[in-house]
Amino acid sequence: MSTTSESLSARTADAVDYSALIPNNVELNSDRALKRALERWQPNFLGWWKEMGPDGFQENQVYLRTAVGVDKAGWAKFDYVKMPEYRWGILLAPKEENRTIAFGKHKGEPVWQEVPGEYRAMLRRLIVIQGDTEPASVEQQRYLGKTAPSLYDMRNLFQVNVEEGRHLWAMVYLLQKYFGRDGREEAEELLQRRSGNADSPRILGAFNEKTPDWLSLFMFTQFTDRDGKMQLESLAQSGFDPLSRTCRFMLMEESFHMFTGQTGVARTIEQTCASMNEAGITDPCDVEAVRALGVIDLPTIQRKANFHMSVSRDLFGAEVSTNAANAFNAGVKGRFHETQIEDDHQLTNDTYPVLRHKDGAFVKQDVPALSAINARLLDDYINDCQRGIDRWNKVIEKANIDFTIKQPHKAFNRRIGEFADLHVSTDGEVMDAQTWTDRQYEWLPTEADLKFLVDLMHPVTAPGEFASWIAPPKVGVNQQPGDFEYVRI
Ligand SMILES: [Fe+2]
Ligand SMILES: [Fe+2]
Repeated sequence: MSTTSESLSARTADAVDYSALIPNNVELNSDRALKRALERWQPNFLGWWKEMGPDGFQENQVYLRTAVGVDKAGWAKFDYVKMPEYRWGILLAPKEENRTIAFGKHKGEPVWQEVPGEYRAMLRRLIVIQGDTEPASVEQQRYLGKTAPSLYDMRNLFQVNVEEGRHLWAMVYLLQKYFGRDGREEAEELLQRRSGNADSPRILGAFNEKTPDWLSLFMFTQFTDRDGKMQLESLAQSGFDPLSRTCRFMLMEESFHMFTGQTGVARTIEQTCASMNEAGITDPCDVEAVRALGVIDLPTIQRKANFHMSVSRDLFGAEVSTNAANAFNAGVKGRFHETQIEDDHQLTNDTYPVLRHKDGAFVKQDVPALSAINARLLDDYINDCQRGIDRWNKVIEKANIDFTIKQPHKAFNRRIGEFADLHVSTDGEVMDAQTWTDRQYEWLPTEADLKFLVDLMHPVTAPGEFASWIAPPKVGVNQQPGDFEYVRI
């Protein structure tokens, strides 16, 4: 076969079939039983979307991107669509020919196209946990459309929401195709748990928190979606090839979610600084005066960041973990950028320095690298977060205001892992429970902060207009002009 016809046939295999009831590039038509199972799940998904998806705006035309291919160039198209009519599809990144497992004890063996029996439970659990976060965030964000600071932001929220819905489809496809009856049951349960519900909560802590205001949304998409990115990057390394291909495509969508958070906070900071300069306020801690300008003071932004960073760090699980070691060793879940790391990718004799609290002090202790997989991913995450925070600080610096946003100490406000039992300030000062209770609001948002934020949120729905507390974006979605009607109200 010539190169040309080879690449042509590859393209045909990857093309997304949008004529089907469920758009897909996995040749769903050739698997009748799976197609029937997914078609039975589809109305339940839509029922969930209508009950737990965005409150209001379901009948409005929203300018959304829909994935129409999986090529890095030109994989999406933009058009007006009503959210319930969004074409949620099943899309896998192209198959890499001759791909081999990059790490663990099966390193060098061909990747698996079916689930190995010995890793079935482990894979199912990982897919369910990832899957559970997708609808959870939609539930957490469901009321925010009503207080959107602009049509641009409202549209971005809805874009994130429909894509989290698609990510749920991605995980449900894997469960239904590869895990038989248990997979179908798990797929149903993904629609039954509810974020913040006492009886049937979502699986992970951060996905049961409230997202009541837009600063919370931006912090969530910056820090919690970024945890999602790290998890997807690790699963994209998986020896279970369908999981790897699914995650690789999800990552292309995910980068927009973090963009929403990164630029959302940057625009908030930009407006705060601009309003302060205009009013001649030089002290960023003169909170009352700053808030009177209808913008969010920088210390509140710092406290919100502290909260979201600490709960997102908990999502990485215990720093030292046998489960993580087993998943790595099995070739099921790798490290961030596994193939770019220069070591033997088996780690049988390696160590990794993990921050621990021993005899009253924080020390770095070398532990077997296999058991420190989570610790390493958390470190990679913290570095990734810092790049975003540096960009925020540039905005403050450019406005000549004396304030720096910082990451809290790794042990600050943790509930899971090495520091779960400690009470630690953002600077790493360890204290007793009573002192923490008395002082925690120096570092975490107070009830009054949260009330201030909620009270500040008023909807702005005229095209091209923005709420008092946020600057317009530098460029529009898909190069649209500033007064573009992103949502037809
Ligand atoms: Fe997602
Ligand atoms: Fe996301």
